[in-house]
Amino acid sequence: MSDGSSFSITTPIFYVNDVPHIGHAYTEVAADFTARWHRQRGDDTWLLTGTDEHGQKILRTASANDVSPKEWADRLVTDAWKPLLDTVDVANDDFIRTTDERHERGVTAFLQKLYDDGYIYAGEFEGFYCVGCEEYKQPSDLVPGTGAYEGQQVCAIHSIPVEVLAERNYFFRMSDFEQRLLDLYESNPEFIQPESVRNEIISFVKQGLRDLSISRSSFDWGIQIPWDHDHVLYVWFDALLNYVTALGYGSDDDEAFQRLWPSVHIVGKDIARFHAVIWPAMLMAADLPVPKRVFGHGWLLVGGEKMSKSKLTGIAPSEITDTFGSDAFRYYFLRAVTFGQDGNFSWEDISARYAADLANGFGNLASRLVAMLQKYFDGAVPTRGALTASDEAIDALAVSVTERADAAVEAFAPHEAIAAVWELVDALNGYITEQEPWALAKDDAQRERLGTVLTTALRGLGTVNVLVSPVMPKATEKLWASIGAGGSVAEQRVDRAWEWQGAETVVPLGSGLFPRIEQQPEQGAA
Ligand code: MSP
Repeated sequence: MSDGSSFSITTPIFYVNDVPHIGHAYTEVAADFTARWHRQRGDDTWLLTGTDEHGQKILRTASANDVSPKEWADRLVTDAWKPLLDTVDVANDDFIRTTDERHERGVTAFLQKLYDDGYIYAGEFEGFYCVGCEEYKQPSDLVPGTGAYEGQQVCAIHSIPVEVLAERNYFFRMSDFEQRLLDLYESNPEFIQPESVRNEIISFVKQGLRDLSISRSSFDWGIQIPWDHDHVLYVWFDALLNYVTALGYGSDDDEAFQRLWPSVHIVGKDIARFHAVIWPAMLMAADLPVPKRVFGHGWLLVGGEKMSKSKLTGIAPSEITDTFGSDAFRYYFLRAVTFGQDGNFSWEDISARYAADLANGFGNLASRLVAMLQKYFDGAVPTRGALTASDEAIDALAVSVTERADAAVEAFAPHEAIAAVWELVDALNGYITEQEPWALAKDDAQRERLGTVLTTALRGLGTVNVLVSPVMPKATEKLWASIGAGGSVAEQRVDRAWEWQGAETVVPLGSGLFPRIEQQPEQGAA
């Protein structure tokens, strides 16, 4: 249980070469859910997201579209990446762009410090580069190409040929940090999660770290190396620094940095290595604290393959939210995918979950309970009389799911947190069926018992509503307006959700929380 401690969480910053798909939205939702939960346990919470705008990938896309890279980035940020936050209801506290002046200033200060302290040197580089990954590759990272690329070596992730680079570059002495990184993983076993990603990273570092080429001179779309303006900074070195420049590192006002750093990073497992190897090494070189955690989540798969625009399997988040709404989008991906593992997306699965868990489970519980309180008590919430074992079991379950859900979020397991809350949803539906309030209502002598049953169920529903508000902010706010005691559900404490007493009067809910979906969207993709 925490009160007032700081909790700063980040998403990766997204490449603006293309528009978002549901894989990107998934990362956003996972981080936003975690941030909302922490806000609702009283932590001084900060959610950062943003865009990664430099590098060859963006430069090439902009050139292919006959615009400058900055114009291209501006267009994509305004038309696609910021709107994504509304589409999936993300309440971020800041949005950083790597073309922001504040970022460039902080990066420049950081680089100069590392250079002055001897962690950067000039050298010759020759190797393979994948523009899709914006990463140097070892021969062992490559696979034989097929189709148009038959006879060439291609990137195993993007299936496109790598480019041979031979340049004079600046290098970061990453090899100096091999042992310190291994010590970090050893002494702080929770630093990288989940276990599968941690093991992969430890074995990667144990194979030995090379110094990292961190500058390019063959193009100029990037942040200039402060002591050599013929070079721009390698895009990953630039991008990783967003996490501290957004908090004011390198500026006159670094109060947020002092208060909120180190952060928790939520990233896809494909980029966990950058965050758990290069990034802490950079921070160690600058004498700054390493991140609190790096959590590498799994991939959303379509037809068994990682969803990607380049492979034409991308699904726009709005294709789903237009039909099911942002709450159901958030619920589905947080509940149905074990956080940390890959998850296959299908329209059938989301439709089935929507109908069973939301419309029939939570939605139906809320509407019938509110309707019965209206019908039998004109909305005035009755005082409870003597409690039976069944009533006490509901009260006890509300305490237990609150505690378990809170612990699950702490352990980065939103799927478990939601599953725990649904035990209460199911128990409440079962309780109502069993107690038969409609039968009690026919007998005047059972008036007090009827009140006890409805109020017990209402308290349970209120607990559910508070606990799922970080998952489904819209529906829970609507229900709060009906059963809450004023204010906003977002102000309620999740870690004390069971204490909820609710309003003295319940007002009608109006339309249902989760309207039935008449038609399935036409989709061939899944
Ligand atoms: N710009 C870098 C990150 C720099 S962070 C300092 C980048 N951008 S990205 O736009 O390509 O990807 C951003 C995030 O989206 C990554 O965490 C990536 O794993 C995630 N996803 C991209 N496709 C995904 C799926 N199909 N499924 C789940 N997440 C996926 O990498």
